[in-house]
Amino acid sequence: MEQRKGRRLVLFPMPLQGHINPMLQLAQILHSKGFSITVIHTNFNSPNASNYPHFTFHPIPDRLDQSDPAMPSNIGSLLSHLTTMCEGPFEDCLRKLMLDETDEPIGCLVSDALFHFTQGVSERLRIPRIVLRTGGACSFHVFAAFPFLKEKGYLPVQDSKLEDPIMELAPLKVKDLPVINTSDPEKLYQLATSMVNSAKNCAGLIFNTFEDLEQSSLDKLRYEFLIPIFPIGPFHKFCPPSLSSLIAHDETCISWLDRQEPGSVIYVSFGSIAAIEQPEYEEIAWGLRNSGRPFLWVIRPSSVDGVDGLNPGLEERGCIVKWAPQVEVLSHPSVGAFWTHCGWNSTLESISEGVPMICMPCFADQKVNSRFVCDVWQVGVELERSNGLERGKIQRAIRRLFDEKEGEEIRDRMLHLKEKASLCLKQGGSTFQSIGGLADHILSLES
Ligand code: UDX
Repeated sequence: MEQRKGRRLVLFPMPLQGHINPMLQLAQILHSKGFSITVIHTNFNSPNASNYPHFTFHPIPDRLDQSDPAMPSNIGSLLSHLTTMCEGPFEDCLRKLMLDETDEPIGCLVSDALFHFTQGVSERLRIPRIVLRTGGACSFHVFAAFPFLKEKGYLPVQDSKLEDPIMELAPLKVKDLPVINTSDPEKLYQLATSMVNSAKNCAGLIFNTFEDLEQSSLDKLRYEFLIPIFPIGPFHKFCPPSLSSLIAHDETCISWLDRQEPGSVIYVSFGSIAAIEQPEYEEIAWGLRNSGRPFLWVIRPSSVDGVDGLNPGLEERGCIVKWAPQVEVLSHPSVGAFWTHCGWNSTLESISEGVPMICMPCFADQKVNSRFVCDVWQVGVELERSNGLERGKIQRAIRRLFDEKEGEEIRDRMLHLKEKASLCLKQGGSTFQSIGGLADHILSLES
């Protein structure tokens, strides 16, 4: 550990699991470089402060009442509520922290990219602002291209054009463009545009990725954004996400994995937000049973609409948990494939642990991530959900990975990527150097 440099950083995570994990992992990385960490967080999904005795936590009100039936019911409305309601309380809290003379001066604010209003706050309070984008560089580049995509007629997405290639963003197709709530595509458009524009004006952009994985997207962003960009992932290699988990991990699945053959298990998890419909649940259950392979399936409470009991016989071959210690699972030798929704954390965790993927993206950046996994890095197979998830298609995807030559090739490429993910962390590696560059950059910022 380096000596404290008398510089305090204030971090502000978006209160969703896929955003809290990387922000608190980043906090650990920066702390190990000698910075003091203060976290401002909403009451909604507040992190467990007792897991971080070396950080200081300050809650702010968010006017979200989880028992209120009017609580925003989908992710699009939740994000717009949070970005509207948090600005005032966040600014008040930061102002108070600045006035607190008993503590060190604040060197820099590190905000989730989606909290775009923090740019205005940082300008008003004259605190430099660095942004953490918790998704990949590949999808951020697509968000940055939204005005162009709109001008060219690719956006809003039209059903008749879903299979059209986007020549300017090959290998993406129109169906891969990020959508959240198709009934109001304009909302995502505005949120993405505000996120990108406010990032362009900040003092630096951090990604949980590594240079060898996303060099081409990072280079494009470096060309378009005139600010320093720091790819310093994979974060979970510095600090496991278990500390920041909002749901307790069920560790019993690890002893179940210990009893399975090496490389035999399909791990199934669709992250912290995506939900599936009851008919999809049935098809997944039958597809897994018919595959004849052991499986570990995360069924989060309330993630399956209309299901009140498990499909009969399901537990004979599989292990079902409400929430798994995902990184531990992915690094377990019994796991041979990850059926994932392609949230960015899951994607990167799978790559760093060398586990080939079955990609079933649901919304937002996940479709872009899936296209990169399947067509650019070629370390996974696609399983389309949009025109009906069906047991035959599921069995086919599983066979492609486990029983066919294609699966062997995918496995080889994945091991190669895993090696790169590991090398970048070593002394002289790209992430190692970029972390040093980030620490120097923060120390050079003028308040
Ligand atoms: C959301 C969006 O869905 C995603 O597209 C975006 O990139 C980030 O925000 P989420 O659905 O939570 O993410 O998925 P993901 O990004 O994969 O993050 C999930 C996190 O929860 C991972 O760090 C994973 O390790 C952890 N997790 C998941 C568990 O600890 N246990 C589980 O059972 C499942």
